[in-house]
Amino acid sequence: MVQTKWVVRDKSKKSVYWPSQEMKERAFVGSDKIYKDAAKNPKAFWANLAKDGLSWDRPWKTVYESKPPYFKWFVGGQLNVSYNCLDRHLEQRGDQDPISNKVAIIWEPEPESERARKITYMGLYRKVCKFSNVLKKIGVRKGDRVGIYMPMIPEALIAMLACTRLGAIHSVVFSAFSGINFKKRVDDCEAKVLVTCDGYWRRGKQINLKKQADIAANAKSVKKVVVVQRFEGKNEFKLKMKKGRDLWYHELMEKASEDSKPVPVESNTPLFLLYTSGTTGKPKGIIHDTGGYLTQAYWTTLFNFDLHEDDVFWCTADIGWITGHTYSCYGPLSVGATMVIYEGSPDVPDWGRLWKIADKFDVSVFYTAPTAIRMFKKMGKKWPKHFDLSTLRILGTVGEPIDLETWNWYFDYIGNKRCPLIDTWWQTETGGTLVNALPGIGPFIPTVAGRPFPGTVADILDDRGKPVKKGETGYLVFRPPFPPGLLRGVWKNPKKYKDTYWSEYGIKTYYTSDGAKWYDKHNIRVTGRVDDVMKVAGHRLSSAEVEDAITSHFHVIVSAVVPKPDEIRGQVPVAFIVLKLGVKPSPEVEASIVKQVRKEIGPTATPHQIFFVKDLPKTRSGKIMRRFLRSMLVNKKLGDASTLQNPEIVDYLKKVVGYKRK
Ligand code: WTA
Repeated sequence: MVQTKWVVRDKSKKSVYWPSQEMKERAFVGSDKIYKDAAKNPKAFWANLAKDGLSWDRPWKTVYESKPPYFKWFVGGQLNVSYNCLDRHLEQRGDQDPISNKVAIIWEPEPESERARKITYMGLYRKVCKFSNVLKKIGVRKGDRVGIYMPMIPEALIAMLACTRLGAIHSVVFSAFSGINFKKRVDDCEAKVLVTCDGYWRRGKQINLKKQADIAANAKSVKKVVVVQRFEGKNEFKLKMKKGRDLWYHELMEKASEDSKPVPVESNTPLFLLYTSGTTGKPKGIIHDTGGYLTQAYWTTLFNFDLHEDDVFWCTADIGWITGHTYSCYGPLSVGATMVIYEGSPDVPDWGRLWKIADKFDVSVFYTAPTAIRMFKKMGKKWPKHFDLSTLRILGTVGEPIDLETWNWYFDYIGNKRCPLIDTWWQTETGGTLVNALPGIGPFIPTVAGRPFPGTVADILDDRGKPVKKGETGYLVFRPPFPPGLLRGVWKNPKKYKDTYWSEYGIKTYYTSDGAKWYDKHNIRVTGRVDDVMKVAGHRLSSAEVEDAITSHFHVIVSAVVPKPDEIRGQVPVAFIVLKLGVKPSPEVEASIVKQVRKEIGPTATPHQIFFVKDLPKTRSGKIMRRFLRSMLVNKKLGDASTLQNPEIVDYLKKVVGYKRK
């Protein structure tokens, strides 16, 4: 069979690709006129998209309102997210239409002995209606916070959608985060109800999640905990249910009615909180609104992934991250797509698992992180070769800069040199993608994310706030009108909101904390974070957060955590630790500190390497100069040590680290 080529190579530049004629014809957007048209009047552009893409209970009065550093979209408009993701697909297309039976979610469990579950839009709608009634019955009302701590199982999405049906605000926490970490978030947002499960499969082992959830369930605000039986009672560990507080999901669902009216909310009402790492030890609750967020989720899903009725979309991100929220839940469901979600690890039973799943379900659009591709590249091309990936049409990546070799490997061996590869730049804060090539427009250039999404205004500025010239590195910013999916605040912390995003260049410029440069007039290459935030295997982690966890160990006085480049994980945390007087460094002390970090945060934060040192480089005001340590780890020039309070420490640290100036 001749396979359709969705891309063609640029005539003069070897590694630049363009959409083929077939791709252009199939794509929702096939001409770059959209950028020009949108730029003429971005507000009108987004207003049209919001109207065309979403169903509103009440139209808005004002498209865009700004009171820097705050802004609003679709003011006065009312809508409900679960209605937009479910009800309207059944209603619009009629009950008799196959869409009611269209599969919304294909869930693949980790053990291959278990069967995949397919949930239709009708089926999902019923479950969400029922669960919204469950939540209502246990006291959840509009504006209340619900903590969701679940692995990749359909019930995680059901719980999220059920919250939105009531206008309740969910806060999903990554299931591999520790219970202590979950509790911090629950305390901050004062969640009334938690939804969790007994556990999940990870690399062939049953993980006891309920035990971790119990730590957060002790939070003062928590009244009820709903527990899903992922193992259907066949768990290998004992489960403790606290009387009066813990309730079984299946029991509640059995009794719940399917009759549930979606509650319309004003467009600027918070839809969810998602905690993410910043430059301090305390994670911040990023607030996303309803109408703006869903507009961006809907249209970025449609334009980037070009999902038509027959497509099968698979975004591999966990629901605990923003990518999971937007592209494993709200985006695909709001456009009425079929999507795959997978519970487990990519190496179970072997490194062919993801390709086996893609083959089994005829996945046509595949979206993952560079760190995963680097791992696949290392494991070799024999794994994807075993499977038929000819249904693939578009590939995407997100989460960190992707290097040339990894890009090429993904393009060659997964896309078989046929598929556009879109490198999407965005952040938890932006709610949806913001900088990337569109599949029907291109160009697809390795290591270059591409163009700001139509209707958004990006710039790259130098230290003084002047736009940089082509080729110069600066800081990526956005100008008004701000993307509709952009955060609306930090939960209970307006100061943090202002200081983090609206201080660097004033209250009218959104500061991303990413370095970037212009590849050409339109296309942007993102170089990575410029603050103390690391991307470890695509996971966002702050230096301060890991340092706080380390310093909470009773043997530790102070620590500094900096990222070191890593071939597979992108970056890994390396810790410099000063122990208390009389405590000698030993494998036991090291193991005990690592244990502490895993307990406080979770395994993703485990230091890759620990150096026990007598002191750290400090400024005169006592601030630790992480920059020095960072450079030292990669044998880069160290810069001026004269501003240090303790310049003599530099030579000592060089010896400890084994520094050799490049
Ligand atoms: C980085 C993930 C380069 C960036 C959606 C950003 C990227 C941070 C890309 C946000 C990309 C994300 N190229 N860097 N395509 N995508 N990043 O909040 O540094 O987990 O600021 O959101 O990831 O990470 P977060």
